Amino acid sequence: MTQRVGVVGGGLMGSGIAEVCARSGRDVIVVEADAPAAESAQARIEKSVRRAAERGKIDDPDGVLARIRFATDLDELADRDLVIEAIVENEDAKVDLFTRLDKIVQPDAILASNTSSIPIMKLAVVTQRPQQVLGIHFFNPVPVLKLVELVPSLMTSEETTATARTFVEDGLGKQAILCQDRAGFVVNALLIPFILSAIRMYESGFASAEDIDHGLVLGAAHPQGPLALADLIGLDTTKAVAESLYEEFKEPLYAPPPLLQRMVSAGLLGRKTGRGFYTYG
Ligand code: NAI
Repeated sequence: MTQRVGVVGGGLMGSGIAEVCARSGRDVIVVEADAPAAESAQARIEKSVRRAAERGKIDDPDGVLARIRFATDLDELADRDLVIEAIVENEDAKVDLFTRLDKIVQPDAILASNTSSIPIMKLAVVTQRPQQVLGIHFFNPVPVLKLVELVPSLMTSEETTATARTFVEDGLGKQAILCQDRAGFVVNALLIPFILSAIRMYESGFASAEDIDHGLVLGAAHPQGPLALADLIGLDTTKAVAESLYEEFKEPLYAPPPLLQRMVSAGLLGRKTGRGFYTYG
C-alpha cells in the first residue's frame, strides 16, 4: 500500500491533499516554493485539521499534524512511493518540476499531477517513467468532496492506474472515476461550459446573478448556483480551465465570455479576493 506520499505545492489543493493523506495514516511531506509559502501551507492545514477535530471528524488532530512535514527542497522526496504535484497551473512550471522529480524520486514511485487542464502526456514524456505518470485530480475542498478523477495517459501502465485507484479508494476513502487524458476530464468538460453559459446569461441582462443561482438551486436541485460556484472555484481558475478547453476542442461554448475576462483583469476573483459575482465579508 502506498504509504509515503509527497505533495508539491501546498496551496488550496495541495494543503487539502496533504491533509486527507495524513488523516488516512500516510506519512506526508509537503514541498513548497519557499519558506513563507511552506509556513502558509502549514498554517492552512493546521487550521483545517483543528476545525475538523472540533466538528468531531478527527479524533487525533495532533497525530494527523505530526504525520506532515514541510520542506522547500525537492530532494526530501527521494523515498516517496507517490508524489502528487499541485503547483500553479502552468505548463512550463509543471514540465520543469516533473523533469526534476523524475531524477530525485525512487524509480518505482508514481508521479501524479492534480492538474485541471494540462495534458498528462506532456508531463509523462519528460520523465524516464511515463508508465508511472498519471493524473490524480481532486476536487475543492479536498477533505469534503468524495470524487477523484484518475487520468492515465496513453503511456500509463494498468498497474499504475490500479495502484492509484487502490490508494484513493481504499487508502483515502474517495470514489474514483476513470477519464481520458483530454482537457477538462469528465467533470470540468461538463461543468465549465455550464458556468460560462450562466455568465453569458448574466452578462446579457437576461437575469440577475441571484435569480440565475436561485433558479438552479430551486429548480434543478443544485446545491449552489453556477455563479456562486464560479466564485468558489475562483474566476481566474474558471477562465484558465475554459481557455484550455477552448484550446483543445475549439468549440465556442468553451470560450471565456468578456465579462469573465474583465473581472479577472480587475482582480475580482471570487471568494478568495472578497468579490466576484457576489461580495464576501
Ligand atoms: P494555489 O495557487 O492555491 O497553490 C499553488 C501552490 O504551489 C502555491 O502555494 C505556490 O507557492 C506553490 N508552488 C508554485 N510553484 C512551486 C514549485 N515549483 N514548487 C513548490 N511549490 C510551488 O493553486 P491551487 O488552486 O491549489 O491549484 C493547484 C493545482 O491544482 C493546479 O494545477 C490546479 O489546476 C489544480 N486544481 C485546482 C482546483 C481548484 O479548485 N482550485 C481543483 C482541482 C485541481
